[in-house]
Amino acid sequence: MKAFIGFFFVLLLFSSCDALHKDDPISEGQTSSDTDFHSYANPNEIATTHLHLELDVNFENETIYGVARHEMNNKGADTAVFDMNGLMIQKVTIGKKGEEEEADMFIDKMDQDSTLGQALRVPIKKDTKYVNIYYQTTERSDALDWLDPKLTTSKTKPFLYTQGQAILTRTWIPLQDSPSNRITYSADVKVPVDLLAVMSAKNPTHKNKDGKYHFEMNKPIPAYLIALAVGDLEYHAFSPNSGVYAEPELLPSCANEFDAIPKMITAAEKLYGPYQWGQYDILVLPYSFPFGGMENPMLTFANPTLLAGDKSLVSVIAHELAHSWSGNLVTNRTWNDFWLNEGFTVYFELRIMESIYGKEVSDILALVEFHELKDELTRIKKSKHPEDSKLHLSLEGRNPDDGMTDIAYVKGAFFLKTIEKLVGRSAFDSFLKKYFQTFQFKTVDSDQFIAFLKSELLAKQNKTFDYNQWIYQTGLPNNCIQLHSERLIQMEKLADDFVKNKKSFAPKVSYTWKKVGRRKKKIKKIQQIKYEDYIVQEWQTFIRRLPRNLSMEKMKEIDRYLKFSNSENSELLMEWFVLSAQNGYAKVNKAQIQAFLSKVGRRKYLMPIYEALLLNPETRNMAIATFNEAKTHYHAVSRNSIELLIKETKK
Ligand code: BES
Ligand code: ZN
Repeated sequence: MKAFIGFFFVLLLFSSCDALHKDDPISEGQTSSDTDFHSYANPNEIATTHLHLELDVNFENETIYGVARHEMNNKGADTAVFDMNGLMIQKVTIGKKGEEEEADMFIDKMDQDSTLGQALRVPIKKDTKYVNIYYQTTERSDALDWLDPKLTTSKTKPFLYTQGQAILTRTWIPLQDSPSNRITYSADVKVPVDLLAVMSAKNPTHKNKDGKYHFEMNKPIPAYLIALAVGDLEYHAFSPNSGVYAEPELLPSCANEFDAIPKMITAAEKLYGPYQWGQYDILVLPYSFPFGGMENPMLTFANPTLLAGDKSLVSVIAHELAHSWSGNLVTNRTWNDFWLNEGFTVYFELRIMESIYGKEVSDILALVEFHELKDELTRIKKSKHPEDSKLHLSLEGRNPDDGMTDIAYVKGAFFLKTIEKLVGRSAFDSFLKKYFQTFQFKTVDSDQFIAFLKSELLAKQNKTFDYNQWIYQTGLPNNCIQLHSERLIQMEKLADDFVKNKKSFAPKVSYTWKKVGRRKKKIKKIQQIKYEDYIVQEWQTFIRRLPRNLSMEKMKEIDRYLKFSNSENSELLMEWFVLSAQNGYAKVNKAQIQAFLSKVGRRKYLMPIYEALLLNPETRNMAIATFNEAKTHYHAVSRNSIELLIKETKK
């Protein structure tokens, strides 16, 4: 076996077929009907329709040994092209299982920054239907996060999970890694007997004796939604079709935190039609998970930082559930139209939140995000790519992750909210419902969306709307809908008063007189603002409103009364630690900041905190030292982003 692997490793490094680049670059003015520049595969000529995986998950050498059996629709191609990155290929065969013949293969050179990886080319006959790739993962399989037992809650069993979006599935499975192609999949997975395996598919709820699990995903999905997790997992059901998987120690708090899920599913179905995937479960991962949530079909992956104890961060679950329509059912054809996934999902998430918690809460959530969008627009305008504030992106030659900004999410959602206001909610809801129905299990691009918008909504309602400005121009159009929240205005006032030297948080003693029998009695009343008086988004607004050079005395005063530095709420901690890094208070709460950075791997939190620490000369070295300590237990997604940030912030 060893020699075998060595031989193919050489092949992987030195094979020299020139990287074949995609057709001609798209010409100026051409819009969203472009090719997928983030995949080498040729699904237009030959496309996988079903993928069967045979996987042996080996924790000792942190390797998955696999066979990827592609059943393909061949339109007469003489080569099948697959994506791979950080994989070792042992051999390729052609034909049905058991009737296989070994085939030639050619592995192209790696692209310069190893973002896209390599094309794996298999010469085939015009009637070839089955291509099987025997492979193993390596240390450079960035989708995989292998966790030592000490990084889990139980601290006794190891854990593995994958993160495929945007283009990391090719780092653990050789396949056609383009969202433009949809496939069904099945898998036979072998894991250590004391662990449970789950996938983005129909899942077991209990471990079995032999550690062998079979999975089926019978609805066609894009490659980035194939996902696997292996760990000491238990299951809690909320209803016959929803529940949560977590390590046993975390399960009770997960069961409590996410108990709104059945209500959310009902609300979502009422809005935009039936949930199409049968089961909807959540898997709560270890802290290193780089995202808040990931919408793997039938099994949303979730970050344990969502377990705030007070259900205050469940909008992330509403978001991932909404992806079961926007993203998983109707999928962006290339990463240039990522907004069609995320903008629709944020819009839908806010609608689910509105139906369960009311319009006031939903508007608060939207406004907090709108605030972030404003900051993002300023950042993008000054950046190397000011064109990134268009909804339709041009990410050719770049990492698709660059498109993961508030533009896709928040500008996208506000675009839809603005159209909703123009045509009225009921017309807009019927339109969206029809959109999901029409494009279900298909992929879409911006131009297809526009055509549908024109014919199914604007023409019917006799309205005109400058959608091109929103989709193909930078910045935020003037006609953007304006939301208003009295509660957030009050929070800003609280912040302003506090800065103006008010003792806003100290107990206020007052006396009233109360009649007791014939006498009057003086009653002492103590009033004090408490953390629980407001929701976390209100406190976020309070912190954001504070001047960036707030004095140490004021910072201490907040900590004395509200204990922000020791909060259990990760959203609040992020906001507070950024301010602390900016104004030097990090000297005081350094231990808490370091503890947070060492524990949590969610990129959304790590990036702003590291950035603020790195930009302040007083804390730059501390940030780098903390990163060097913590980086081995971050997922590659977060690790790579912070490494880049360290370089970029260097003077
Ligand atoms: N699909 C995304 C996560 C993602 C996007 C992973 C692009 C890789 C590439 C997921 O649905 C998401 O948006 N998660 C957010 C939470 C959401 C409430 C905004 C996150 O992780 O913060
Ligand atoms: Zn999302």
